[in-house]
Amino acid sequence: MKNSILWAIVISIFAALAGIGYWSLSLVMTKPDESARIPLEIAADYIHAVIEANRTVYATEIVDKFQEKGLIEAAEHWRQENALPLPAQFLIETGKHVAATGSGIKYRLASLTPIYVWNAPVTDFERKGLEAVIKDPSKPFTGIVRIGRERVFQAIYADRAVAKNCIACHNTHPNSPRRDYKLHDVMGGIIITLPISR
Ligand code: HEC
Repeated sequence: MKNSILWAIVISIFAALAGIGYWSLSLVMTKPDESARIPLEIAADYIHAVIEANRTVYATEIVDKFQEKGLIEAAEHWRQENALPLPAQFLIETGKHVAATGSGIKYRLASLTPIYVWNAPVTDFERKGLEAVIKDPSKPFTGIVRIGRERVFQAIYADRAVAKNCIACHNTHPNSPRRDYKLHDVMGGIIITLPISR
């Protein structure tokens, strides 16, 4: 009898210890995970920062430098002409590579007055976003949208005419529907799409 009471006490102490152990372990295990979850708006900001950095370095350190030295030009039909892609095309091309990874992350350059129709908004949300960043370029237009069966997060960032050659080229391109861009105008937007569930 005494023995069985002793055993019962020992077993309940073990059970309590195991319970406390499991509970404290679960605290340690879940905390870093939860704090590592970042809002989609911030994830999009991070991706946007990388896209912008790549585009700036490509435009200033590669295209501008090579053109100044007269080594190689950037041209729209770069594949046929053995030239460098234009910075806009560089962004569009890297975006295609990212989309091809199947990670669900996508980005592209779009405008309400695009040189090519494939850079026009394809949904109401994209059109509204491009209108919103013209009015207020300081912050992205964000939201959750349904594309087919999938729900995705989209963020649209203003794309400004930061250099004279942006407006010079777009205002004179035979295909451009708009020819009165001025320096610092919002010419379009970078649309970033992130998957919500994987
Ligand atoms: C030498 C000509 C040229 C220059 C310079 C240039 N672009 Fe473009 N841009 C293009 C062409 C061509 C496209 C279409 C590329 C495609 O879809 O293949 C384009 C596409 C775009 C688009 C997508 C919408 C559209 O018009 O099709 C935006 C937005 C854009 N450019 C903004 C800029 C900005 C901002 C700059 C300056 C930092 C710039 N561009 C400099 C020729 C140029």
